[in-house]
Amino acid sequence: MNTSLAGTVQVVTGASGGIGAAVARAFVAEGARVVLHHHRGGERAAALASELGGRRATLARADLTDERDVDAMWERIVATHGRVDGVVVNAGIWIAEEVPVCDMSLAQWRHTLDTDLTSAFLTCRGFLRHLKAVPRDDASIVLIGSTAALFGEAGHADYSAAKAAMSYGLTRSLKNEIVRVAPRGRVNCVCPGWVATPMAEDALRDPGVVHRATCTMPMRKVAQPEDVASMVVALASPALGAHVSGVVLPVHGGMEGRLLHP
Ligand SMILES: NC(=O)c1ccc[n+]([C@@H]2O[C@H](COP(=O)([O-])OP(=O)(O)OC[C@H]3O[C@@H](n4cnc5c(N)ncnc54)[C@H](OP(=O)(O)O)[C@@H]3O)[C@@H](O)[C@H]2O)c1
Repeated sequence: MNTSLAGTVQVVTGASGGIGAAVARAFVAEGARVVLHHHRGGERAAALASELGGRRATLARADLTDERDVDAMWERIVATHGRVDGVVVNAGIWIAEEVPVCDMSLAQWRHTLDTDLTSAFLTCRGFLRHLKAVPRDDASIVLIGSTAALFGEAGHADYSAAKAAMSYGLTRSLKNEIVRVAPRGRVNCVCPGWVATPMAEDALRDPGVVHRATCTMPMRKVAQPEDVASMVVALASPALGAHVSGVVLPVHGGMEGRLLHP
């Protein structure tokens, strides 16, 4: 099946992490060129770039919570590539410790919203400004939400609230704004359940966590990053995703919700 991604330029934020790296590999397999964004994981991103090949992958560093850093990153990317066709808004954090709202500090709440939601705003804003400056028909934004946006997540209300805002408010507003600058532009969101990546690996060592995470899933499996990457590529593809916008796509093996009373 032809994805029509060959020759396109795709920016992947958090490409130094598990899902971002899988997304980058999947884009390159379709013939796209990727910009591998990283923050502290420069060595991981550089290793991925050398695996993918210098002509296919370039690096971009930024703290995506920092407005100046994000704007400077977009300037460098545009100066290097001239035109960017899509962005995958994937970078994020999940604080492993369970903290109910009654015990949560304002500092934690703000830190999570900054890192998971404000970073998405700044990343999308940079891309939309680029689309405005360099007109074209098609463009794609794929945001990475979470099942925490769909079902909530006790002990992680900061994360759940940030992901819900991104998955619904941001995705569905941007799908109507992007067409003002790219008439066939699309904005979609993929919501994974648990995925075996560095973010989740400590928690997933506990069989009790795996049981609770999978027992409302008919498929009863922790996802691999590639399970998410294939859906991201399908939505980013101007051929496969040509008429799909504003979709919030769960990639969670049929999960029905949370086990409240284990
Ligand atoms: N794993 C799961 O179970 C799961 C489930 C649902 C949703 N998700 C979502 O999927 C996305 C990717 O997660 P993952 O599992 O691949 O996690 P990961 O392996 O921990 O990767 C997280 C990525 O986010 C980047 N990042 C974190 N804070 C940043 C900041 N302030 N500025 C710039 N980049 C920053 C990291 O960059 P550096 O390492 O370079 O600093 C890293 O590349 C996240 O949005 C996450 O919420 C994950």
